[in-house]
Amino acid sequence: MSLLCEVSGMSLSVSGKTLLDNIELSLEEGSLLALVGESGAGKTLLSAALLGFLPHNASLAGRVSLFGKDVFKMGQKELASVRGRRAAIIFQEPLTSLNPLMQVYKQIAEPLVIHKLAKPKQAKEKAVSCLAEVGIENPEKKAFAFPHQLSGGERQRVLIAQALICGPELLIADEPTASLDPITKLQTVELLAAMTQKTGTALLMVTHEIKAAGLLCEKIAVMHQGKIAESGDLGSVLSNPQTAVTRSLLAGRLLF
Ligand SMILES: Nc1ncnc2c1ncn2[C@@H]1O[C@H](COP(=O)(O)OP(=O)(O)OP(=O)(O)O)[C@@H](O)[C@H]1O
Ligand SMILES: [Mg+2]
Repeated sequence: MSLLCEVSGMSLSVSGKTLLDNIELSLEEGSLLALVGESGAGKTLLSAALLGFLPHNASLAGRVSLFGKDVFKMGQKELASVRGRRAAIIFQEPLTSLNPLMQVYKQIAEPLVIHKLAKPKQAKEKAVSCLAEVGIENPEKKAFAFPHQLSGGERQRVLIAQALICGPELLIADEPTASLDPITKLQTVELLAAMTQKTGTALLMVTHEIKAAGLLCEKIAVMHQGKIAESGDLGSVLSNPQTAVTRSLLAGRLLF
């Protein structure tokens, strides 16, 4: 198994405040890792940093290696060639991540066009077939909808289709189940499980809902106040938590 991403001794601070502290994390090819922690723990900051999205005034230490390259040393052009193609990210807010003025098929097809992997006509056809693959009913019709014409669950599926259209090796999904009802949450987790299994894409699932992570992932890293509090095989961490933060996240799991 090769390592897609390795974070070693990584710290990030802004205006003298340490937001990420000595992070160690690795993601193997095809693996499913949950990154859990309370609100404000640093999950979004860390997952964005894996793809080189950093606060403007960040001071950095340590290393993030993505596909064997040091992300902090990669230029914008090189980062752009990786983002959306080899590594995709679904940002936290499904509505704000989509352009309200653009039909969904165009947004799904955009990464293919940007990375010159398909001509516009083929990209459109691929977008419609991707919509069908992520379980959208009437994909030929829904492809022409604008984001506000879709339900929250459908918008999350659109983002999954857009993230997977170039066949990335790594998908980072930041809170993909937030703001969905319990049934739609479960369907979204099942979809992520099915899609990653089918394509062999590794998944970093960021969530504060430890139960959602437990349904899907094999490994877990628990974050607390900018640090990795504990990490390991999901079964053993959940059955024998070593830290108060994991125990309290577990105590809240029935809220899911
Ligand atoms: N660009 C930024 N510049 C300065 N501080 C930031 C920036 N982004 C995040 N932070 C701070 O870093 C901390 C961690 O934020 P982050 O968004 O990573 O939390 P999170 O674990 O994703 O929380 P949630 O579960 O609510 O999404 C917070 O204190 C936040 O205010
Ligand atoms: Mg977040």
